[in-house]
Amino acid sequence: MKNYEYFRVELEEHIAVITISRPKALNALSTAVVTELETVISDVSEMEDVWVVIFTGDGDKAFVAGGDIKEMYEMDPAAGIAYSKLGNRVLSKIENMPQPTIAAVNGYALGGGTEIAMAFDIRIASSRAIFGQPETGLGIIPGFAGTQRLPRLIGKGMAKLLIYSSARINAEEAYRIGLVQKVVPHSSLMDEAKALAAQIVSCSPHAVRLAKTAINQGLEMDFQSATMYEAHVFGHCFTNEDQVEGMRAFVEKGKAVFNGKALPKSIPQN
Ligand code: CAA
Repeated sequence: MKNYEYFRVELEEHIAVITISRPKALNALSTAVVTELETVISDVSEMEDVWVVIFTGDGDKAFVAGGDIKEMYEMDPAAGIAYSKLGNRVLSKIENMPQPTIAAVNGYALGGGTEIAMAFDIRIASSRAIFGQPETGLGIIPGFAGTQRLPRLIGKGMAKLLIYSSARINAEEAYRIGLVQKVVPHSSLMDEAKALAAQIVSCSPHAVRLAKTAINQGLEMDFQSATMYEAHVFGHCFTNEDQVEGMRAFVEKGKAVFNGKALPKSIPQN
């Protein structure tokens, strides 16, 4: 496995665990960290053997404490635009990874921390996790698509409440408003994330990737176009031997074993 400055990547049973590690700044997203993250995401996206990705933060305290405030303090408008564009590009790459992804939120996820968590498919939070978009308290707005993904995930009113007030919320509140899908005891966070990942691994990796594609692409379309697109992607399932294996197992009352051959790396076009 390649060595990175701010990330560790571990691979086990088709599950890659990416850990962001910048302990001195509670894993804050400096330009250097976001730039390296782009490489990590490209590398893991290309790994044939990886069927599910988990992303978490190093240490007991923080998932990601946001964009790097000390770096932003020195920025002018052009630098601000460049930093936001970089963050948005990398988070879009995360959102469009071919594999299903899980953010295991182990502590503070503020500003860019909440934003990066939202770029993953599913969020599991430790009972110690704290979310929020504190940017307006710093004289800026969320710059890594927080103004876009948050209202899409939890609705416009609640997103505005959080962004205007820069309020911090705990894991239970994040669960209540639909920002996270599960809250688990801090000590069992990674076990729970890996158990969910293993359950996903037991399904057809081909079908799971296509389901992700249908959801992500479909949500960008009007409903009728999205259902047409779904039909196209549904048809695409029948090009892969996982469909034969999954249905053979049902008919023969056995257990399907998927081999992950010929996984789609990019989104099938209509
Ligand atoms: N940027 C840069 N450094 C940060 C940081 C950040 N976002 N968050 C924490 N750090 C640094 C601190 O400066 C401190 O370093 P020093 O010891 O060198 O001073 C170290 O990490 C430890 O932090 P604290 O001493 O503050 O730890 P704490 O336990 O007292 O508090 C915390 C933890 C509540 C998370 C607090 O650090 C905090 O509020 N951090 C900032 C959170 C924030 O506002 N994030 C949003 C940033 S803006 C953004 O993200 C824009 C965007 O859309 C990309």
